Amino acid sequence: MKKVNHLDYAEQIIRSIPKGILLTTRAEKVNSMVIGWGTYGVEWGKPIFAVYVREGRFTREQLDAHPEFTVNIPLSGSRLDRHIFDVCGMHSGRDLDKVAEAGLTLVEGDAVDVPGILQAPLTLECRVVFRQKQDLDKIDPKFMSSYPQDVPGTAPLGNRDAHIAYYGEIIGAYLAE
Ligand SMILES: Cc1cc2nc3c(=O)[nH]c(=O)nc-3n(C[C@H](O)[C@H](O)[C@H](O)COP(=O)(O)O)c2cc1C
Repeated sequence: MKKVNHLDYAEQIIRSIPKGILLTTRAEKVNSMVIGWGTYGVEWGKPIFAVYVREGRFTREQLDAHPEFTVNIPLSGSRLDRHIFDVCGMHSGRDLDKVAEAGLTLVEGDAVDVPGILQAPLTLECRVVFRQKQDLDKIDPKFMSSYPQDVPGTAPLGNRDAHIAYYGEIIGAYLAE
């Protein structure tokens, strides 16, 4: 792996988020999920990447058990491989080993005990410093139309539960190779 200054990739990071990037955790197992929300900025004078994970996700259990994560971004604005996108965005780590199923190649970093992913090599290593459940009553009602809540349960497509914001201090960054 090649260490980098994440600020040199700031625009690429922000442009990649809505296309779908990966959030990887390691507790019971290594597990990656697709995320389309994320906030890259500064708080407490520290570089922060916040992720938003619905309460019912397996990733939520993983993060609560081991509060570190990596954010994994394809290079040069490209999209995640379709198979990786489908496995990591539509299946739960509760039901299968996504690393094996998606064919992810893990690359160990050194700032956190969670690996990066060769297929999405731009890696932010983050340590959770704050978490907060979003209060649905306080979200602008205009946004609720694009926040469907029509699927109950904790299955991958379940969407009735609120997101928990996990703020990760970015304590390392590298290109997985
Ligand atoms: C494009 C896309 C973006 C997504 N963004 C998020 C997100 O920001 N937060 C979230 O909780 N789930 C998001 N999901 C859904 C999770 O990726 C999906 O439920 C996944 O199966 C959860 O995996 P896990 O159960 O192993 O944690 C997204 C899915 C897709 C396809």
